[in-house]
Amino acid sequence: MLAGRRVVLGVTGGVAAYKAAYLARRLIERGAVVRPVMTESALEFLGAHTLAAITGNRPVTGMFNAADVSPHTTLARWADAVAIAPATAATLARLANGLSDDALVATVLATTAPVVIAPAMHTEMWQHPATISNIEQLTSFGYHIVEPASGALAGGDTGVGRLAEPERIADAVAAVLPGGPMTGVEVLVTAGGTREAIDSVRYLGNHSSGKMGNAIAIAAARRGAKVTLVTAGPTVDHPRVENVEVESAAEMADAAWNAAERADVAVMAAAVADFRPARPIEGKLRRQEGPPSVDLEPTPDVLGGIAAMEHRPFLVGFAAEVGSLDEAVAKARRKGVDLLVANDISSPGSGFGTDTNQVTLILPDGATEAWNLMPKADVAERLWDRISEMCKWEGTSP
Ligand code: CTP
Repeated sequence: MLAGRRVVLGVTGGVAAYKAAYLARRLIERGAVVRPVMTESALEFLGAHTLAAITGNRPVTGMFNAADVSPHTTLARWADAVAIAPATAATLARLANGLSDDALVATVLATTAPVVIAPAMHTEMWQHPATISNIEQLTSFGYHIVEPASGALAGGDTGVGRLAEPERIADAVAAVLPGGPMTGVEVLVTAGGTREAIDSVRYLGNHSSGKMGNAIAIAAARRGAKVTLVTAGPTVDHPRVENVEVESAAEMADAAWNAAERADVAVMAAAVADFRPARPIEGKLRRQEGPPSVDLEPTPDVLGGIAAMEHRPFLVGFAAEVGSLDEAVAKARRKGVDLLVANDISSPGSGFGTDTNQVTLILPDGATEAWNLMPKADVAERLWDRISEMCKWEGTSP
């Protein structure tokens, strides 16, 4: 969250300049106030009016054509953070050498605010020794580089050098600005569906996509928390999220119990297998040998292990039920959680793989709160609002 934070958005002359408009939107959606500064060549790719309309602020486009006699120092002092996206190879070179002959580089030199740089260029330029050494130099200044992604480049080429997605750059800006409402809070999230080996090729699994857990991890990180995401599904790309990739329930238990030691809040959104093959086969079961019979044994109860800890974090469980949620109320008591988030995976728009969810919160006293169907990202935000009301965490220093 960037409520009220002041971001100078520097745009330089690459084809990815159009994405600066999206980045400005993303920053504003998160509550930031954005003042753009554009280089002369940026104006060849993106209209100043576009950024003016989106941000409500006319971009600074030079040192001598602005009403302000010293636009660079005004911007530099105003900024809580400076983000440059896209940053061309030429701008990286000018920044690395302090060549402040345009309003953007002059602003960066004049500011004490944190600087986030998102380069974009052709692969060959990105991999050129000059660029590599400029990036090293900029990193040594303490600037934060948002590495380019791989994908389509200008002129029909593909490769590394494509500007990182605006959402990722906005995350990097938020990460350099401390002071979110969960600053200092340590969070553990489990996500994804575990896989229990039958043999070296096959496993017992489930349909969990990891989307709900990942949304919860990102929402906490955006509020300033330090998040450990123990996941058997896709990872999350956020500077404040440490991904720990696991496969089985046993691996998830080890990683989660370890992270729970220092966590203030643990949200157990993973779909953990309750049983695993007792004797997984080394190698591959052969068709000619006929259908095997697979004996199962219980897996460790990841959540149960945390519930039993002497100094346990505030504990949030999930319960995927089919049909009635009556069992979930009993489960909330049985599991010893502080909050249970239940959903009926058979109801439309809810459950595995969807981007929306309809959940019911169950409190330890049996009280329930049914929320409307909404995007998983919104469920995650509201969940953190609710957890923040219920739990006094240590280390909060907004
Ligand atoms: N869970 C866990 N470790 C397990 C199984 C479940 O940590 N081995 C966690 C899940 O991440 C979830 C909560 O426990 O937060 C409830 O999971 P669920 O499968 O609904 O609970 P069970 O006790 O297995 O209930 P059921 O009999 O309905 O399967």
